[in-house]
Amino acid sequence: MCGIFGYVGDKPAAPILIAGLKALEYRGYDSSGLFVPGSGVVRSAGPIANLEVKIDPSLTDTTGIAHTRWATHGVPTEKNAHPHLDMSGTVALVHNGIIENYKELKEGLLAQGITFASDTDSEVLAKLIGTLYKGDLLKAVREALAMVRGTYGIAVTSTHNPKQIVVARMGSPIVLGVGTGANYISSDPAALVPYTKDVVYLEDGECAVIESDGYKVYESSGRNRQKNPEKIDWDIEEVQKQGFEHFMLKEIFDAKEVIDNTIRGRLLHDEFRLVKLGGLEPVLDEIKSLDRLTIVGCGSAYYAGLIGKYILEEYAGLPVDVELGSEYRYKRTVTQGKTAVIAVTQSGETADTLASIRSAKEQGLLTLGIVNVVGSTIARETDAGVYNHAGPEVAVASTKAFVSQLVALVLVTLLVAKERGVAEAELKKIAKELQTLPEVVQTYLRDQKETVARMAEKYARYNDTMFIGRKFHAPLAAEGALKLKEVSYIHAEAYAGGELKHGPIALLDENFPVIALAPEDDVCEKMISNIEEVRARKAPVLAITTEGNDAVVSVADDVLEIPKLHPMLQPIMTTIPLQLFAYYVGTAKGLNVDRPRNLAKSVTVE
Ligand code: F6R
Repeated sequence: MCGIFGYVGDKPAAPILIAGLKALEYRGYDSSGLFVPGSGVVRSAGPIANLEVKIDPSLTDTTGIAHTRWATHGVPTEKNAHPHLDMSGTVALVHNGIIENYKELKEGLLAQGITFASDTDSEVLAKLIGTLYKGDLLKAVREALAMVRGTYGIAVTSTHNPKQIVVARMGSPIVLGVGTGANYISSDPAALVPYTKDVVYLEDGECAVIESDGYKVYESSGRNRQKNPEKIDWDIEEVQKQGFEHFMLKEIFDAKEVIDNTIRGRLLHDEFRLVKLGGLEPVLDEIKSLDRLTIVGCGSAYYAGLIGKYILEEYAGLPVDVELGSEYRYKRTVTQGKTAVIAVTQSGETADTLASIRSAKEQGLLTLGIVNVVGSTIARETDAGVYNHAGPEVAVASTKAFVSQLVALVLVTLLVAKERGVAEAELKKIAKELQTLPEVVQTYLRDQKETVARMAEKYARYNDTMFIGRKFHAPLAAEGALKLKEVSYIHAEAYAGGELKHGPIALLDENFPVIALAPEDDVCEKMISNIEEVRARKAPVLAITTEGNDAVVSVADDVLEIPKLHPMLQPIMTTIPLQLFAYYVGTAKGLNVDRPRNLAKSVTVE
């Protein structure tokens, strides 16, 4: 949550900071602000555009820090926007995270006569640094952080040394961008791509001092640590809309490329191996002998994990548990035999998923990741893993990363199934079909986009919806509902079809449509019975089914047809119309689908 950007160089800082914030706006967009040492703080409630109009175009300062906020403590007003200042107004701080002991720290500062201008936990840290500052900003920051409990990514600068930014990280990402004659800091490497592809990821406990001609990283002990830059492998086009009206639509249309990238070089079709996942090679023997796998994730990644459970159990015979990150981290987990924990996460920074991985490590379990953002904390902290290679996902609602997570879980299933001696013929068939999937998805998007848009317009008038599905499509129903909620604010429930009669059917009437995921498969007849139960309660039914499945067409009010695939791959295909449907309902309602209210892309706080 929240985005931080900073610049030290020889160009006016303010326009660079604004551009950086715009690239990070998906992380939080309820208020924003910046500080340049020569001119002070400018803050604004609302989107970055509100801040931009307040900036004096003649500002020449060449250092600055900036912040876009997703409120945790204090309502999203101008006074609560960052940067926050110390008592003297000379030290400025931006913060992403939560200071858990801010109340006790604040009491101590109040007792010293220090007053506060905002309701935030972050201002407490700014004031604390100010009281400890005796001419060495890094020292003051380190001393203050030693008194703090919680999570932070911070950037601090001061009018006393206007050519320097001090940053520190504990649980919230901070990346340094290494340029020529200029250096940058950001919460996300994607915002650095227009300036440099050389980046340094800070680890938890590390601090760094950034100047225009260099940077120095310090370990928590205070010792200087030589960290050379790593190269980002994305292009600038990947973080732009490329003519699409919204990032969300562009990212749905990225599906072909995303699937291609996720499977590239990983399907072997040779005599011995079917799938090669380089990142899992070092632990292959351990994976072969696993008794159980626990998948952890949040939101869409959790639903991808649930689909992963169905396919891993069905095709590889491996027992799988799926846990929400926010639950796993606090509950007692009872393991049976050799268990590994695999985190599914786009950002690789989600606080609850990260905490789950750390807790699994403490229990001595093998930790794995299916992670999109290269170099992210979860990617670095897990023992081994699979990168999605889906490229940066900018829209807040996950689309292409979810598709890629399903593809990665199919690859893991094929790998485990092969290792566990499952008959090869079927696995090979699936692997072959997987290779044709990118084209199939691309053709569908090209040919059916308008049909889905028309259907979405028809259903946009309802206030409630229920998504139903069975087997692999039961968790996908929950993902379809989540997507619709996020971008259209329509109330959307999700149930496994067989659950309707146990309660939720009571909700249905002619104003409560049902979106039924009913591809032709071994549970299709059961879904048809569910659709009939629903129709008997007068609820309109939009069915998503496979081409030529007349049995479903004859019972539904409306139908979206999709190509029929192997059951293991079918949920990936069904995902595409669900994402398009949510997108078009949201846009039909005139909403900003890229930045839904109350949300932020990367949830680095609890
Ligand atoms: C939904 C969505 C969220 C994320 C969740 C986990 O559209 O984007 O539910 O899936 O916050 O995020 P990552 O995958 O970054 O761990």
